[in-house]
Amino acid sequence: MRVNLTVNGRAHAVDDVWEGESLLYVLRERLGLPGAKNACEQGECGSCTVYLDGVPVCACLVAAGQAQGREVRTVEGLATGDGLDPVQEAFVAAGAVQCGFCTPGLIIAAHDLIARTPDPSDAEIREALAGNLCRCTGYEKIIDAVRLAAARKAAG
Ligand code: FES
Ligand code: FES
Repeated sequence: MRVNLTVNGRAHAVDDVWEGESLLYVLRERLGLPGAKNACEQGECGSCTVYLDGVPVCACLVAAGQAQGREVRTVEGLATGDGLDPVQEAFVAAGAVQCGFCTPGLIIAAHDLIARTPDPSDAEIREALAGNLCRCTGYEKIIDAVRLAAARKAAG
């Protein structure tokens, strides 16, 4: 089947999508966007998180057909022009990236949190990131990064 969708502001028509193919597969293997990561393919780790019509979802759990006519935004789509999004910058600045496998999903989750709650408490940060697993960092630097991103966004 053909699936028409918009990804990071660009319209795509993807042909020969098979039944059961995931949105994650379409993004990574057909559209060449490797930002969303494929780790568990079971909705457990959050490494494949993307925005679907503005709502974070696990792209491994979304059938490609469900994305028909909808807007997807991946971690690649957060940057504007030459500049990284403040959340992306904060993850680098806070040293919140080790192997980096969890990072794209965490950045989408953090980006969504700060958009909804510009000055999140630590508890709100932990809750918002609860679906995103990281094997490397122990989470403290990730939480530092979210605090830093929120402060930088608030400062304009
Ligand atoms: S790969 Fe989608 S939640 Fe783990
Ligand atoms: S930095 Fe390696 S899994 Fe999070």
